[in-house]
Amino acid sequence: MRFAFLSPLLAFATLVAAHPGEHHSFVRKSDELIAHELMARKCAGAIAEFENQRRVAREAKHPYLARRQTPTTTAPTPHYTTIQNSTCVTAVELTEGPYYIRNEYIRYDLRENQGGVTLVLDVGVIDTTTCRPFPNAFVELWAVNATGFYGGYSPGGNVHTDTFLRGGQFTNENGIVELTTLFPGYYTGRTSHIHAMIHKNAQRNANGTIASGSGQVNHIGQFFFDESWNDRVFSTAPYTNTREIRMYNNQDWILWQGGASAFVNTEPLGAALTDGLLGYITVAVDGSKNYRIMNTNVM
Ligand SMILES: *[C@@H]1O[C@H](CO)[C@@H](O)[C@H](O)[C@H]1NC(C)=O
Ligand SMILES: *[C@@H]1O[C@H](CO)[C@@H](O)[C@H](O)[C@H]1NC(C)=O
Ligand SMILES: *[C@@H]1O[C@H](CO)[C@@H](O)[C@H](O)[C@H]1NC(C)=O
Repeated sequence: MRFAFLSPLLAFATLVAAHPGEHHSFVRKSDELIAHELMARKCAGAIAEFENQRRVAREAKHPYLARRQTPTTTAPTPHYTTIQNSTCVTAVELTEGPYYIRNEYIRYDLRENQGGVTLVLDVGVIDTTTCRPFPNAFVELWAVNATGFYGGYSPGGNVHTDTFLRGGQFTNENGIVELTTLFPGYYTGRTSHIHAMIHKNAQRNANGTIASGSGQVNHIGQFFFDESWNDRVFSTAPYTNTREIRMYNNQDWILWQGGASAFVNTEPLGAALTDGLLGYITVAVDGSKNYRIMNTNVM
């Protein structure tokens, strides 16, 4: 056991020292992840088309984005031949983590009264068994607030009634949902990330919550941000009030295991950070899978 514990740490230290910023490729991906990436690669054309349509729709909705693009009003022909790093094809069972809570609210805005930089997150879901957008998939998120706390968990790990930055909504007929949350802070031992779970055929409870585990869980993963966005956001209040120790993307073991493929494409929604950010990501899920939710805590 001692050896098993030591070796990842040694590998970690060596990689950080020898290859800052480019060591993702040294981490062995699981066979399951490789298989799923191959499936997703077959859908590259469909995903590119899907992302293109969403970009045009976003620019129509948020004129600030359109102004910042190179002056062209028509969408370019899809040109991606490989899955982009904004497409999340992460491994699954490794990443639920200890902080899920079942039966959270079905809603578009997860912010409640928390302070921080607003993040409008456009999530597109593609089913790699069909290469088609996935309508009526419940996209559920959970993340820490600006100073590194999960809603519903006390620092000691006890569950309580806070629900901030948790919950989700169903994708529309085009496989897309836009959720409003905050750019997450971080906590000691992890880089900034947002957890995501995608449910198929999930049932709604009468009180407006999702019945976790009532359908099939097709995906459990995590979204990350380019370090330059982390730097910008974390230099502002209230993120600067944190007592957590920052970890960077290139130090986060779980990010490496995910194949470093789950980065949110992030753009400003205005001239100031306080205007908020728009993030977009495509999640390629295997609609035939049904992952088990490990956590038994209920809201
Ligand atoms: C993702 O791809 C974009 C465009 O190719 C690039 O600018 C960005 O640095 C990449 N991000 C990561 C974390 O690799
Ligand atoms: C984050 O949550 C903790 C625990 O509820 C709270 O004490 C703290 O004020 C919150 N931080 C922000 C920036 O809202
Ligand atoms: C909502 O309803 C479900 C199912 O009846 C129940 O388990 C849960 O405790 C309820 N949640 C709230 C916040 O009332």
